[in-house]
Amino acid sequence: MTQNTKAKAAVIGQPVGHSKSPLIHNYWIEKHGIDASYEAIDIAPENLEKELIRLVDEGYAGFNVTRPHKEKVFAVCDSLDELAQAVGAVNTVTIKNGKMNGTNTDVFGFTENIKATRPAFDFKAGPAVVLGAGGAARAVIYALLKEGVPEVRVVNRTKNKAQTLARDFKRLRVHDWEKRSEVFAESNLLVNTTSMGQSGQPKLELDLTALPKNAVVNDIVYAPLMTDLLRDCEDRGNQIVTGIGMLLHQARPAFEAWFGVLPDVDAELEKRVLA
Ligand code: ATR
Repeated sequence: MTQNTKAKAAVIGQPVGHSKSPLIHNYWIEKHGIDASYEAIDIAPENLEKELIRLVDEGYAGFNVTRPHKEKVFAVCDSLDELAQAVGAVNTVTIKNGKMNGTNTDVFGFTENIKATRPAFDFKAGPAVVLGAGGAARAVIYALLKEGVPEVRVVNRTKNKAQTLARDFKRLRVHDWEKRSEVFAESNLLVNTTSMGQSGQPKLELDLTALPKNAVVNDIVYAPLMTDLLRDCEDRGNQIVTGIGMLLHQARPAFEAWFGVLPDVDAELEKRVLA
């Protein structure tokens, strides 16, 4: 019998059909001529444990996790690296010797997107404002503090969620959602991590008057690519960073962990994902 040496990875979720991950990873598999496959696997919550055992038994190199399985996978991983622990969420699992090791690649994705788009940006040059305190905000805040941002100002509609973050992270200040337009003074970076501005979601109402013209503005929403926030900020002279790069860059360390090659984000990949 011939041993099947093809490396296998997947994204698991429900629904999972909308996921861009198969397109991204299969693009790199083809580009690098790797004998591997990456598929989307729709798994109902009641079948998750059984399906995880199957992935391990069938020799998968690992998988990405999307809704609604993130919490459960976080809980059942055999080990969690520093990033998964700090963010409190797993989006990528590698399987070695039958053990599931959880990590979080959103931190890398966020930082690399800013660095790739605005190479001259200095994270240490001033405070950052983060809108939102959900799962994505945790990864963004951890990334900012790791890059040496002197102060992170968090504004969230539900204030106690932001206050919980302030207990977990240093150099973090919580401000009222109603006063969100007042926290921009001397800020160096503004990041929207809320779902506002996304297609079908409410518009993000912000008075940008106090935002310094040299501040960089990043929206992690990428559908639409040019959100109203980014358009308004670009119109007043701010440098902007769109959200698609975070999605693309967060996939790179996962691909490397499974298939041994750290791929690049190129214009063709960006074009295909946005098509
Ligand atoms: P994700 O994993 O993408 O971060 P999430 O954990 O559900 O998703 O977080 C969504 C974020 O968008 C939260 O900060 C949420 O604010 P609440 O904590 O108050 O729920 C924010 N958000 C979503 N809809 C909003 C709205 N209409 N107005 C203000 N904030 C909103």
